[in-house]
Amino acid sequence: MSIALIIPDRKLDDLQQRLQQALPDTRIEIWPELHDPAEVEFAVVWKQPHGCLNGLINLKAIQCFGAGVDSILADPTLPNLPVSRIVDPALTEAMIGYLDGVVNYYRLQLDVFSRQQQQSVWRPKSPRKLNHIAVLGLGELGGAVANHFYGSGYQVSGWARSGKSLKNIQCFAGEGQLAQAVAAADVVICLLPLTPTTENLLGENFFSTLKPAAIFINVARGAIVDEQALLAALERGALAAACLDVFRQEPLSSASPLWQHPAVLITPHVSAVTNVSTVVSQIADNYRRAQQGSALLNPVDVVRGY
Ligand code: NAP
Ligand code: GLV
Repeated sequence: MSIALIIPDRKLDDLQQRLQQALPDTRIEIWPELHDPAEVEFAVVWKQPHGCLNGLINLKAIQCFGAGVDSILADPTLPNLPVSRIVDPALTEAMIGYLDGVVNYYRLQLDVFSRQQQQSVWRPKSPRKLNHIAVLGLGELGGAVANHFYGSGYQVSGWARSGKSLKNIQCFAGEGQLAQAVAAADVVICLLPLTPTTENLLGENFFSTLKPAAIFINVARGAIVDEQALLAALERGALAAACLDVFRQEPLSSASPLWQHPAVLITPHVSAVTNVSTVVSQIADNYRRAQQGSALLNPVDVVRGY
């Protein structure tokens, strides 16, 4: 019996080797070079070509190699099998580290100084007063990020689909309360999953509810944001700046106006990258669970989309 790693365009030697060490009696194969597709019982998947799981007639479960499962669920021919995803303290720590860096970048006005440097301008400024952070999505990552910033001295509000009671975080729920969740925010961080409900959720109306000095950070998925509406909102001064780690189309096209916009900071989807060494044990555990027919760790609700 075997595990197929279906993660195109990525070097998989390290993952293959570590999984092999954890499961010495199981064949670990890199798709599309499979010894016998009928032997594959478990697939570790990221951005799979649509349809590629259908030939695996004995597949028992699908393990997403990241936290967000949108690219996996987008396959219209996805077999009706349990799907699990990565939940990992190391991933959460990486996300917090990235966001801490970005918030401090803006607090210290490094965006302004970087533009001044390009013009050889020497104009000191004191730090921006960033007091209130709003976090959209209060799941594994959003909840930890909200707590982190509260612990660093910020007022924090959060928004989720269902009502939450998180100590010290002012929680809002449902589309009707989105505007309230961000109304007082100096920084808004998006950590929502991409689902049919959240696609294009953050558009003209949303950006109109922000404070004109607000900074928007998207570390979730690009398609949650209407990029044209964001650019228009920046142009009319509905918000001050945006830091984008994720895009509707990745890599971001060299023709995108986002690259050149002075109020946009771009990073190439690096805020929290799955750490092979810390996730191997949960993948191996899920393989054993799938073989035994037990519930997977970190299951995904395929109907809800996250
Ligand atoms: P999660 O645990 O599934 O949490 C999702 C949160 O979003 C939950 O609080 C959920 O509300 C809320 N939500 C879902 N649909 C909503 C809606 N329609 N309206 C309001 N709130 C809604 O996800 P996670 O592990 O925190 O990860 C979040 C996302 O981060 C992932 O899906 C992925 O796309 C992205 N990500 C990006 C990177 C990167 O490198 N850029 C790395 C990792 C993850 P409930 O609590 O009420 O269900
Ligand atoms: C990365 O984007 C992830 O979803 O893990």
